Amino acid sequence: MKALEGIKVLDFTHVQSGPTCTQLLAWFGADVIKVERPGVGDATRKQLVDVPNADSLYFTMLNHNKRSIELDSKNETGKEVLTRLIGECDVLVENFAPGALDRMGFSWENIQKINPRLIMASIKGFGPGKYQDCKVYENVAQCAGGSASTTGFLDGPPLVTGAQIGDSGTGLHLCLGIVTALFQREKTGRGQKVSCAMQDSVLNLARVKMRDQQRLKAGPLTEYSQYGQGIPFGEATPRAGNDSGGGQPGSILKCKGWETDPNAYTYFIIQAAVWEKVCDVIGKPEWKTEKGYAKPPERLDKLTEIFATIEEWTKTKTKFEVMDICNPLDIPVGPILSMKEISEDEGLFATGTMVRVDHPERGEYLSVGCPVKLSDSPADVKRSPLLGEHTTEILSDVLGYTGDDLARVIASGAVGKIKTAPAE
Ligand code: COA
Repeated sequence: MKALEGIKVLDFTHVQSGPTCTQLLAWFGADVIKVERPGVGDATRKQLVDVPNADSLYFTMLNHNKRSIELDSKNETGKEVLTRLIGECDVLVENFAPGALDRMGFSWENIQKINPRLIMASIKGFGPGKYQDCKVYENVAQCAGGSASTTGFLDGPPLVTGAQIGDSGTGLHLCLGIVTALFQREKTGRGQKVSCAMQDSVLNLARVKMRDQQRLKAGPLTEYSQYGQGIPFGEATPRAGNDSGGGQPGSILKCKGWETDPNAYTYFIIQAAVWEKVCDVIGKPEWKTEKGYAKPPERLDKLTEIFATIEEWTKTKTKFEVMDICNPLDIPVGPILSMKEISEDEGLFATGTMVRVDHPERGEYLSVGCPVKLSDSPADVKRSPLLGEHTTEILSDVLGYTGDDLARVIASGAVGKIKTAPAE
């Protein structure tokens, strides 16, 4: 039995943010029914295509364990089918542009009338206010959520990060909201609306930068390396390069091979508790007692010099040797792993964090598995559905359309061309 077994999710999501959320629900055991426009489907199916005539990795990696029904929600019969799906499902998840669902005739008020137990979960770029009608993609959210202004180097432009904190980050937030609403429904019997704005989710993840914004009133941020470099602080939380975001100073340092390998680097944290071990490892035992170095606050104006000295040591070791030496000493370090290295790490395949998936159109591909491990509800990653692969089975098994009634729906053009399941 899976944790969310018995929960039906009407998945009206597309691109990345919403699909991230519904993929998690599917991995937790919900029956996720992805509604897609006939003949077109989720736009990502045909974006960044690497294998001709096959669903893209963009789509397959975000839509595992789901079923797909083609349905034109603007066609009258399509609306009838959608209404019955809303009646049958526990959760509806959508991330259309603002107002799109209302324009289809499925406002929250109407949805509540159809199914008062339904939890309706929405992702929009912004919450209520001046930008509420905007369409938003990942990097817009990273910029508007405060992340970009605090990422990058002090002397460079704002930077977006490779982690999709706007899309996947918001999907994660929404997933938590949905499960919480399901929990509350156990007591109240009522559904509710769950809303996540991408700006809000990014800001939540950039919370410590808002902490620093307020600390600026009390003086310079002494753990930022610009403090030791004598560069004055302005009015807003500055970009901190690779400085640690917490109370233990850290930085990215070159390792052996850095001249040719762009990822021959390690993150190195000089946690106060292990300072003496750091001094011994890097061949600076005198810093253990020397004034200006022995105590954490004394070191704050010398972080650039200290990390440059540590780097002279890390440059003599590979990033993995640094890890092997420092880990037993409790010195927190982290190798900069490339996606190539991660994709070849059998340890991650053993835990299900990385998975190999077979697909009828594209053959085997790699994916990231479920990052949340439930001991009583392990996630079995199954390939993403082909467009409309489950249309008939959803119409008949979930909604009870049979015989002439089923033929009527198919003939209406609302559900696209009926396909036969591919040979696996
Ligand atoms: N049948 C018929 N029409 C359908 C349909 C279906 N099954 N599924 C979608 N549509 C229609 C919508 O109703 C909408 O029509 P309308 O504009 O006439 O109301 C249209 O398709 C396009 O939907 P929209 O959401 O506007 O897509 P888009 O490609 O123009 O915009 C986003 C994409 C992501 C910018 C936008 O959806 C958005 O801002 N979403 C919220 C924020 C978000 O999640 N962004 C991150 C995405 S990773």
